[in-house]
Amino acid sequence: MAVDQSKRTLLSYWWVLPVAGTVGAFGYMANYARRVTFSKTVPDQPRYQSGPKQRVAALSDLRGPYSFKEFTYQKTPCLLMQLPQPTPTSLSVGGRHFAAYSRLCTHLGCQVNPIEDTELLALTYNYRAQHPMLGCPCHFSVFDPQQQGASVFGKALHPLARVQLTEQGGQIYAQGLEPDPRVEPPA
Ligand code: FES
Repeated sequence: MAVDQSKRTLLSYWWVLPVAGTVGAFGYMANYARRVTFSKTVPDQPRYQSGPKQRVAALSDLRGPYSFKEFTYQKTPCLLMQLPQPTPTSLSVGGRHFAAYSRLCTHLGCQVNPIEDTELLALTYNYRAQHPMLGCPCHFSVFDPQQQGASVFGKALHPLARVQLTEQGGQIYAQGLEPDPRVEPPA
């Protein structure tokens, strides 16, 4: 009889495990949502580390807003892009604006790609934008080239590292790069 009673008591708590599991899952998701929404750092004062002056492209290589050219600087895959508007750290030449970023995603280091088709971006990244973005194919973080490489969606918390640009004689040069935010996160 005593055994039956203890069995009955035990069975009366059958609901504890699924409820605890559900509460834990919701807690995890809420914490994840809070982290990827409110913990992102925004691009601030650039932290360029000087490097060799390296030719990246001729001005004539880029033919309009969001046209781009890939290059490697200091062993880092990078991307130069023409922007429709200047940013606080972009290079402006003759009314045209340029910015360059490391292509290393600040989440786990996959290479970001330009996503020119905003419908494709909405479908594959679940992020709707008004202009082309840089997207990471690994976990679908999205970075905005017009906001100095800020992470605007997804797991990446930090902006892409910016490349310091200069122009001379119709040629665009790289001459510095910010540290990888995964190694030296911005304050
Ligand atoms: Fe880019 Fe995870 S490596 S989102």
